[in-house]
Amino acid sequence: MNNTNKPMVTSHPGSRLLKAVLLLLLFPLGFIMGMISMANFPHFYESPIIPPILLSSSLAPSPSATPMPTPTPPSPSPETQCLCPPPLSSTPTPSSPSPPPAERPATPRGLMSFITPSGVMHDMTDDELLWRASMAPKVSRTPYTRVPKVAFLFLVRNQLPLRPLWEKFFAGQKHELYTIYVHSFPPFAATLPTDSVFHGRMIPSQRTTWGDANLVEAERRLLANALLDQSNERFALLSESCIPIYDFPTIYTHLTGSNNSFIDCFDNASARVRYKPDIFTPHNITISQWRKGSQWFEMDRALAVEVVSDEAYFPAFRDCRRCVIDEHYIPTLVSILGWRRNANRTLTYMEWQPKNPHPRRHGAEDVTVELLMKMRGGAGNNCTYNGAASNVCFVFARKFSPDSLGPLLELAPKIMGFG
Ligand SMILES: *[C@@H]1O[C@H](CO)[C@@H](O)[C@H](O)[C@H]1NC(C)=O
Ligand SMILES: *[C@@H]1O[C@H](CO)[C@@H](O)[C@H](O)[C@H]1NC(C)=O
Ligand SMILES: *[C@@H]1O[C@H](CO)[C@@H](O)[C@H](O)[C@H]1NC(C)=O
Ligand SMILES: *[C@@H]1O[C@H](CO)[C@@H](O)[C@H](O)[C@H]1NC(C)=O
Ligand SMILES: *[C@@H]1O[C@H](CO)[C@@H](O)[C@H](O)[C@H]1NC(C)=O
Repeated sequence: MNNTNKPMVTSHPGSRLLKAVLLLLLFPLGFIMGMISMANFPHFYESPIIPPILLSSSLAPSPSATPMPTPTPPSPSPETQCLCPPPLSSTPTPSSPSPPPAERPATPRGLMSFITPSGVMHDMTDDELLWRASMAPKVSRTPYTRVPKVAFLFLVRNQLPLRPLWEKFFAGQKHELYTIYVHSFPPFAATLPTDSVFHGRMIPSQRTTWGDANLVEAERRLLANALLDQSNERFALLSESCIPIYDFPTIYTHLTGSNNSFIDCFDNASARVRYKPDIFTPHNITISQWRKGSQWFEMDRALAVEVVSDEAYFPAFRDCRRCVIDEHYIPTLVSILGWRRNANRTLTYMEWQPKNPHPRRHGAEDVTVELLMKMRGGAGNNCTYNGAASNVCFVFARKFSPDSLGPLLELAPKIMGFG
């Protein structure tokens, strides 16, 4: 009987060999699997898509038969565990460790830095920037006291020769009321003094050529950068030859108190000459929607979000050569959108000359009390502001050459009330 077992036992050396071979095979296999899982495991934690609530329920053995998965940090109410997935910011990521409690600001973490970014420099591409800037809160009630800011967008070539006048304009004004953004290519030759209001306000800029689409791209870049500050409510485009013709409090009140944006927008025979049916008809832009107007806009936040988010119409304008798109793109977009809250005029004064495509340039000898009074609008001006008659049609003016700075600084306290 035992003999019958013997052959069975004697057959074991063969199975032992098999076991040894299997062991030899399994050990490196197990080692490789271990290495793979070790390499993969951190990715589970790094991935923001997988909430930790799922990780803890699937990876940790559940001790009891509770229907609710238990998240790692213990929470007093099981109901909140079920209803509210933990916020992404609380996900334990090795790259962003939570700061010690002492360093935490009093406000909800991240909100203030989100509302008002500390600087203007970033390394986003235009695509990334426009996408980020196109986001608007859906909740209408703001969970903090929002003081509207005016964003002054300077689209300049290389230098700001009238900067001393603007410094006087901003001097002593509350920083909570305004922001400055400068698009300058090539960048400023000289570095600005640290006490300048323009210091550190240079945004990532690219080359611009008058009449080219890259000029409108620069305008959209300025708008997008300014939209990143949630407090910016009004956006005024200015050039190096622009001046303010009222003091800061007057301009701030005029802009933030208006129900309208100020986009120059008209349609007549002269406006229609740049309409190219072969380019615009395929993009569903009709000649009846086509508008022309001064490039120098002032708009509210809602319209600024529309301008940076436009994907449908901007490509048509960008591809159009000799369309003077800086004078047609925004007015036509406003028309296509059926935007009602528009004054249909610009807030920037300029003087057109007969048979000259460029507005008049004012030099030192032109700067007089009469000129500034005319720009500010005496009894002759007849504009509508929030539905009522107003003699203030303009709050900015151009074009002033660099040599006009001296006379402007001299007249500013008497006429404009600053400096
Ligand atoms: C078209 O309208 C603009 C703005 O109102 C005006 O300046 C221009 O003279 C008009 N041109 C023609 C040809 O009517
Ligand atoms: C133009 O409008 C038509 C009809 O609504 C639509 O099918 C087409 O995609 C539009 N074209 C563009 C370029 O938006
Ligand atoms: C400006 O033009 C638009 C479109 O024609 C119109 O809806 C709006 O009422 C105009 N704005 C003013 C202040 O007249
Ligand atoms: C200003 O406009 C109103 C309304 O259009 C008109 O009645 C008035 O005569 C105009 N005044 C001047 C000085 O043009
Ligand atoms: C501005 O618009 C709001 C909402 O449409 C309206 O209630 C308010 O009366 C307007 N203000 C003025 C000054 O027109």
